[in-house]
Amino acid sequence: MRFHNMTFGCQMNVGDADWLRFSLEARGWQHVAEEHAQVFLLNTCSVREKPEQKVYSLLGRLQKMYWQKDPRIFVGVGGCVAQQIGEQFWKRFPFVRLVYGTDGVPMVPQALERLRDTDGLRISLLDFMEHYPERDSSFPDRLPPQAFVNIMQGCDNFCAYCIVPFTRGRQKSRQAQAIVEECRQLVARGVREITLLGQNVNSFGLDRHGDGTGFADLLRQVAAVDGLERLRFTTSHPKDIAPDVIAAFGELPELCPQLHLPLQSGSDAVLQAMGRKYTLEKYMRIVEDLRRVCPQIALSTDMIVGFPGESEADFEKTLDVMRAVGFESSFSFKYSDRPGTRAARLPGKIEEKEKGRRLFALQTLQARLTAQALSTRVGRQETILVEGRSRKQSSVCWQGRDGGGRIVHCQSHEDGLVGQMLPVQIIQANKHSLLAEAGGAPW
Ligand code: SAH
Ligand code: SF4
Ligand code: F3S
Repeated sequence: MRFHNMTFGCQMNVGDADWLRFSLEARGWQHVAEEHAQVFLLNTCSVREKPEQKVYSLLGRLQKMYWQKDPRIFVGVGGCVAQQIGEQFWKRFPFVRLVYGTDGVPMVPQALERLRDTDGLRISLLDFMEHYPERDSSFPDRLPPQAFVNIMQGCDNFCAYCIVPFTRGRQKSRQAQAIVEECRQLVARGVREITLLGQNVNSFGLDRHGDGTGFADLLRQVAAVDGLERLRFTTSHPKDIAPDVIAAFGELPELCPQLHLPLQSGSDAVLQAMGRKYTLEKYMRIVEDLRRVCPQIALSTDMIVGFPGESEADFEKTLDVMRAVGFESSFSFKYSDRPGTRAARLPGKIEEKEKGRRLFALQTLQARLTAQALSTRVGRQETILVEGRSRKQSSVCWQGRDGGGRIVHCQSHEDGLVGQMLPVQIIQANKHSLLAEAGGAPW
C-alpha cells in the first residue's frame, strides 16, 4: 500500500506523523508523493481557526482530485481537529474512513490494514486512555541526527484561550524508563540531538500517572545517555519551571543554551484574564535566573495579540517586555476564538483590523530584535550539528544549528557531514540565519 502523510500544527503532531510513517514502513507500506497515494493521513491542528479551516479545504481538494477518479482511495484524519469533529467528518467527506485522536495513534497501523481489507468499513479511534499509550518501536536502522521524543500527553492548564486541553485530554506523564530507553534506541541509530516534547514539560511527573521522576531528574537521565550530544525540550510553562530545571542549564553540558518560554502578553491584567497564573515580574525573574546560570541562553517566546479586553496600553507593555528581554525569535498570533474555551465567552473582543495592526507592530519589532541578536554572533567560534545540505545556498553549503538553535549555513567542500558536530566560524548574519566557514582559525 502507498500512503502520504500531511501534517499541520505543533511538534507533537510531527512526532505522531513520524511514528506512523516508521510503523507503516516496517509493515511494508510505502511513503509516496501525493499523486501516487492510495491512503492519505492528515494530522490536523485546531489551535486557531485558520489551521482548522485549512483541513476542510484540503479534504475538498483531495476528494476532487483523487477520490472522484478512484473511489478506492481513502483518508485517515487524526490530530486535534479529528478529536473535536470526530465522526462528523465522514458525513461531510465520504472518503474519510478513519478518524483518530492522539491516544488512538498506536492503533492506526492495524486499523489501516483492516480498512484496506474490508470494503465500506469505517473506524473511529477517539477515546482517551487511562495511561500514556506506549507505542511499539519500529525505527529504521539509520535515522537523521535530530529527533523528537514525547514525554507526556495532554494538558491540565486550561488557559482561557486554548483548545488543547479539550483536544489532547488530561496530562499523562510517560514512565521515565520508557523515555530513556527510547532515547538510547534513537542514539544507537545515529541520532545526536533529542528534543523532549510535551504541552507543558515543566509539570512532567506531577500528574497521577508519573512514576516519581521530576522533569529535572529526567533531564539528567536523558543527558547521561551515551553518545547523545545535545538535549533540548519544549514547551515550558513559566508558572511551573522549577529552580533545578533552571540550574540544569548551568550543569548539564548536553543541555543546549536555548529555551522557548511562552509569555503570551506583557500585561499582568491580560495574563490574569488568560489564566496564565504568573506575573510579568515572575517571568522576568526566571529570565534573570536563566541568564545568571547560562549567560548565552537564546530565549524565544509565543505572544497573542488582541486577547479580549486587551487595551492599547496592555499591548504597549507587550512591546516593552519584548525589548527588555530581547527575544531572539517569537511566534505571534492574533487571538482567535475557539469553541468551548472561556475566552470565547469574554466581552471586549478586538476587531480583526486592530489585531492585524498590533501583530504587524509586534512582528516588525521582532524582526529588529532577531537581526540584532544574530549580528552579535558574527566572528564567533561555534559547533554546529549538521542536518543536511543547505536548500537555499549553493551545493557546497551545509545546514545545521548552533547550540542556541540558530540556523547556520556553512560552506565546505567536504562530503558526508550529516550528523557531524562541526566546528565553524560565523562570518555573516542574514535575516533569519547565520553564514559560517568550516573550521576557522581559533581566535
Ligand atoms: N502548550 C504550549 C502551547 C500550545 S499552543 C504552551 O503552553 O506554551 C501554541 C501557541 O498557540 C500558544 O503558546 C499560544 O501563543 C497560541 N494560541 C493558543 N491558542 C490560541 C488562540 N485561541 N488564539 C491565538 N493563539 C493561540
Ligand atoms: Fe494551551 Fe495553556 Fe496548555 Fe499550553 S499550557 S497547551 S497554552 S492550555
Ligand atoms: Fe495544534 Fe493540537 Fe498541537 S491544536 S498546536 S496540533 S496540540
